[in-house]
Amino acid sequence: MERLSTGVKGLDELIGGGLKPGSINLIAGEPGCGKSVFSVHYIMAGAEAGETCLYVSVEEKRDKFYSNMEGFGFDMQKLEDEGKLIFHKTTVSEMRNLLDQGLISFEEYFKPHQIKRVVLDSVTALMLAYNAETAQRNALMVLFEAMEKWGATVLVTSEVESGAARFGVEYLVDTIIHLYYVKIGQERVRTLEVFKMRGTDHTKQEIVYRLGKGGMILYPNEKVLV
Ligand SMILES: Nc1ncnc2c1ncn2[C@@H]1O[C@H](COP(=O)(O)OP(=O)(O)O)[C@@H](O)[C@H]1O
Ligand SMILES: [Mg+2]
Repeated sequence: MERLSTGVKGLDELIGGGLKPGSINLIAGEPGCGKSVFSVHYIMAGAEAGETCLYVSVEEKRDKFYSNMEGFGFDMQKLEDEGKLIFHKTTVSEMRNLLDQGLISFEEYFKPHQIKRVVLDSVTALMLAYNAETAQRNALMVLFEAMEKWGATVLVTSEVESGAARFGVEYLVDTIIHLYYVKIGQERVRTLEVFKMRGTDHTKQEIVYRLGKGGMILYPNEKVLV
């Protein structure tokens, strides 16, 4: 079966070749662990494959985001100029209105541009629009169902504290990849773990990674000694 590259070098071969077309994939982790960097890798891979990608940012504004990503060597502006990226800064209230209407107006992005990849960064911020957990879950279901209907493969980020995601998002997604930043002795080490991936015999290993020029760099041969 065809798979979509995550864009993170060395990761696809550990997860059955990449992400399943039409799947919903969650990148979870604490603030600053690299969720947005991972998401940009995913967009880059899409652009390379000639796809137009939609990046929906709830928290970060376009200019600041692009400038942060420049630090990793990512040229978001270039992608946008080439028509491969649509960056949409949204707000919690705008998303709430869209969701309450079943996301009809999002179709203006999908239909003409044939969007194949969507990033929603982050779902945690979006959930602030709802008080009750059932309302949060319903909103997520509306969102994911709409995106599936449009044929997009979706990456959502979620902020977690002490390893547990909230509002049941983990039950609604096909894949969960956790990013950790753990203290070992005097220093912190970044690791990635594929927690679940439906229909895939994925790696069970915790993989060391670093952030820097080039984005997220995996070191699958390094072992974490605790
Ligand atoms: N130029 C850089 N080189 C290396 N690491 C960086 C650079 N800029 C930021 N970082 C690291 O990347 C982190 C931000 O990554 P990001 O993907 O935005 O995290 P998240 O989306 O999970 O909050 C920062 O907390 C910092 O540790
Ligand atoms: Mg982020």
